[in-house]
Amino acid sequence: MKINVLTLFPEMFEPVVGGSILGRAKKKGILDINLINIRDFSQDKHKKADDYPFGGGVGMVMLADPVFRALESISGQGKKALYMSPRGEVLNHEKIRQISKEEELIILCGHYEGIDERILEYWNMEEVSIGDYVLTGGELPAMVLIDSVARLIPEVLAGEESAEEESIYSGLLEYPQYTKPREYRGMMVPEVLFNGNHKLIALWKYEKSLELTRDRRPDLFQRYLKGHGELSKEQLKILKKVESAVEKV
Ligand code: ADE
Repeated sequence: MKINVLTLFPEMFEPVVGGSILGRAKKKGILDINLINIRDFSQDKHKKADDYPFGGGVGMVMLADPVFRALESISGQGKKALYMSPRGEVLNHEKIRQISKEEELIILCGHYEGIDERILEYWNMEEVSIGDYVLTGGELPAMVLIDSVARLIPEVLAGEESAEEESIYSGLLEYPQYTKPREYRGMMVPEVLFNGNHKLIALWKYEKSLELTRDRRPDLFQRYLKGHGELSKEQLKILKKVESAVEKV
């Protein structure tokens, strides 16, 4: 997958895209992250990339021309283009999954108070938000998007953990995890994890996932009840047990 990132601050991305998992994906050629400095496309002698908003208002607005030229340099027409913005649809797993299927992507990071609206209209940009709060720029949101999309590309996680195996992918939150030592400051690891019975352990994990989801994210739990995959008899029994506790909580 190729991701073209248009930004005024390409250096912000270096440690993230060069870091562990994304860096390895880049080296293996699975992920190609092309950082483009919008300022390089400014025709202005001071490399200006923003100006005052027409009609007044606070802050500066990113100029259309450097962004247009940057997009033309990568033949952006017809490619899936996203603009990181709190005005956009809030990201969720389903959206990330759709985006991860693209072969090439353009991500535009805004700064200052906004960007000239004509950029969004002309390049048919889809606005994408990472949540209902406002950051100072689109760079951190773009990194959140890149990280979450990259880990869904087959081969990126390379056996470390399978993205599809994780519980959020079946619509549930993840069960609790433990590692050594077995006892820490008097706190014990649940006994079931040592009994060697893999079927029993899997059922325990399933039960914990269900309980956590029910208690913390009732919205996800209700959705899971409506459409989960094939369950074994034992799993179904556990689901019924956890579900019947809904009325009591
Ligand atoms: N830019 C500023 N705030 C943002 C947000 N919440 N999501 C995406 N881009 C943003």
